Amino acid sequence: MKILSIYYLIVITVVSSVFIFMPYASGEEKLLYIDTEASCISLKCHDTMGKKEYVHVIGVDGAQCKRCHEIITTGEHRFKDLSLKTELLCQQCHSKEFTSPPELKTLPPKVLPIDKEASTHKPFTDGLCTECHDAHESDYYRHLKAEYPATPYAQYTESTYGLCFLAKCHKGLEKVFIEPRTLSVTAFRNGNLNLHYRHVNKKKGRTCIVCHDNHYSKSPHIINEKFKFGNKELTITYEKTESGGSCSSTCHRLAQYDRYEPVLNLMRTTPRPGIDATADELKLSRERDKKKRKQKSSLDNIPVQPEQPETEMEEKQ
Ligand code: HEC
Ligand code: HEC
Ligand code: HEC
Ligand code: HEC
Repeated sequence: MKILSIYYLIVITVVSSVFIFMPYASGEEKLLYIDTEASCISLKCHDTMGKKEYVHVIGVDGAQCKRCHEIITTGEHRFKDLSLKTELLCQQCHSKEFTSPPELKTLPPKVLPIDKEASTHKPFTDGLCTECHDAHESDYYRHLKAEYPATPYAQYTESTYGLCFLAKCHKGLEKVFIEPRTLSVTAFRNGNLNLHYRHVNKKKGRTCIVCHDNHYSKSPHIINEKFKFGNKELTITYEKTESGGSCSSTCHRLAQYDRYEPVLNLMRTTPRPGIDATADELKLSRERDKKKRKQKSSLDNIPVQPEQPETEMEEKQ
């Protein structure tokens, strides 16, 4: 009798352990039983997290994972799939409606209200925050997914603006910053003088954050109203015109640009590379742009899928 019960005990143990470890054996789904109250970062689990240079304060604290990751069944290591659209997730904290829980009081998260009147960056309004930011940490400033300078000046290299050139967004945008003269690749040009190239592609080039916000702005083309320069905040007054614009900022006095009738700005500047376009070339480019705009407005009626971020920095009309 005694021997029989020991025999049964062994059988039960073996059978039940097969059930417990079966998910591991199948290789399809690993069901790890976890202590819901424990930190997700321990010597055995997720111990590589939080080691990169730029961390999302809230994202790499072992106790805070559940703010974003929802456990489906208590005790099991199964989490709800996170949607591609992370806006709601991020806005739990990064929005006006959010009241900081006591433990965050000392670090109120930056509020990002979207002003409907503003010009906006499409992936931002589409709520695709993790197209640009890693939710946890990265080697780049503001835990961005690729290189992007944090300072007003940076030397231009092929990788300096990796973030903007991520293949699925601004395909072909690289050209904007390597062609000193152009009649097509950018609208920021005076005649054929490429003003993006002129500001950015230098040893001490101005970075995108001098002129553009990355999320939204009250000015057209997501141009900043202000930018940080050391401890100071400098203003930019940008105005858009039918075929160009003007800018007066603390960097230089009023300067104007026009794509088809280049403006003569009396400023002291370094010599201009390349040759000015002829009147005929400018006329042709105006016609070409007009045609392109027409094509684009007929495409505007096609709804945009969130899986396919738009290719251009766009503004809401
Ligand atoms: C601020 C929200 C947030 C917090 C907090 C957070 N995560 Fe995530 N996590 C995400 C998002 C969003 C994804 C989906 C991947 C993506 O889009 O970057 C993700 C993906 C993951 C993945 C899948 C693999 C990967 O890296 O893509 C793991 C594993 C993970 N998180 C673990 C953790 C752990 C462990 C913690 C706590 C130390 C944590 N997360 C805290 C938002 C968060
Ligand atoms: C639980 C609250 C919470 C959630 C959810 C959250 N954040 Fe944060 N976030 C914070 C706090 C707190 C800070 C630190 C304070 C600050 O810098 O504004 C912060 C800072 C940041 C920063 C600035 C980091 C820096 O270097 O200054 C970025 C970028 C950011 N979060 C992006 C996101 C993104 C993207 C998501 C969604 C995937 C998200 N956050 C979700 C609380 C949150
Ligand atoms: C197109 C890329 C892109 C998208 C999409 C994007 N961001 Fe950012 N974000 C940036 C860049 C670049 C910076 C750094 C700019 C700076 O600090 O000047 C930044 C900065 C931030 C900061 C820090 C701001 C500060 O001044 O402290 C927060 C917080 C943030 N983003 C949250 C979000 C949230 C939430 C979303 C989604 C609703 C989002 N971002 C979508 C590119 C993006
Ligand atoms: C000196 C200010 C300035 C800097 C620096 C700058 N931009 Fe611009 N950008 C503009 C202006 C002004 C426009 C609007 C041009 C128009 O439509 O008249 C613009 C337009 C754009 C557009 C719309 C398409 C186009 O080229 O017309 C994109 C995309 C863009 N900028 C990306 C960037 C990126 C990425 C960087 C950094 C590598 C950057 N910009 C740096 C001023 C600037």
